[in-house]
Amino acid sequence: MDIQHIRRTAIGAAYKSGEILKSFLGGHFDVHKKGVKDLVTQADMQSEKVIVDTIKQAFPDHAILAEESGASQGDQRNQWVVDPLDGTINFAHHLPFFSISIAFVHDGKTLMGVVFNPLNGELFSALAGRGAELNDETIAVSTTRDIGDCLLATGFPYDVLTTFDFVTLRFERCLKHAQGIRRFGSAALDLCYVACGRFDGFWEQSLNPWDTAAGALIATEAGAVVTDFSNAPYTIDRRDILATNGSIHQEMVSLLDTKDVK
Ligand code: IPD
Ligand code: CA
Ligand code: CA
Repeated sequence: MDIQHIRRTAIGAAYKSGEILKSFLGGHFDVHKKGVKDLVTQADMQSEKVIVDTIKQAFPDHAILAEESGASQGDQRNQWVVDPLDGTINFAHHLPFFSISIAFVHDGKTLMGVVFNPLNGELFSALAGRGAELNDETIAVSTTRDIGDCLLATGFPYDVLTTFDFVTLRFERCLKHAQGIRRFGSAALDLCYVACGRFDGFWEQSLNPWDTAAGALIATEAGAVVTDFSNAPYTIDRRDILATNGSIHQEMVSLLDTKDVK
């Protein structure tokens, strides 16, 4: 398997998608509701098409799991996991903070991840076992040990109306202990910001594989500890994720633990 070819294909697709997203931003585009809070825009659809076409051209046999079109046929041992626009609500409000996330998973193990912010040109990438990079520079997690000095990030899931009590309790506990919390609206970038030390930790529940697959590998390769809320190792089908610099991981697991709450 030529993992460098896979990485180059993902980066090429992300750049093409970035041009499409930039061309829509600030102008008029169609927006549809997929759920009460969940949107899809014309830009999501066009971005996904160009990414899927690029992958299919290079690797016609591989399977693709993409947010808007779902799972394709193909060799399921080699699967691409694609979020063509992570941060759709930001995008729909012309808020310039979003990304494109592309991962390659072989036999259930993520081998390559790319997350691209087309507005500032930051390209985060990782290959399993070979570290993580931001625009060709090696990146690493922060070394902050005291949670009182930590900047955390989270997101509010689309199912928040049914999970509200747990989401707000976790938020309240972390807010009391951390220096600050940010909610930027792109889980893929949140994970990359943990990877490069801008955030010391990130947690969110009810996420999907396309939100986390690439960012989790990038964070792990940069030295992050990435688990679910119960401290079990991350897998792409876990819906809750906690990524930290390692030093604060146990404390975060305790803060997120709602077992005793009725
Ligand atoms: C969303 C973003 C957001 C997170 C949501 C995700 P989308 O993805 O990652 O930050 O809070 O839970 O669903 O819908 O913009 O691709
Ligand atoms: Ca997403
Ligand atoms: Ca999306």
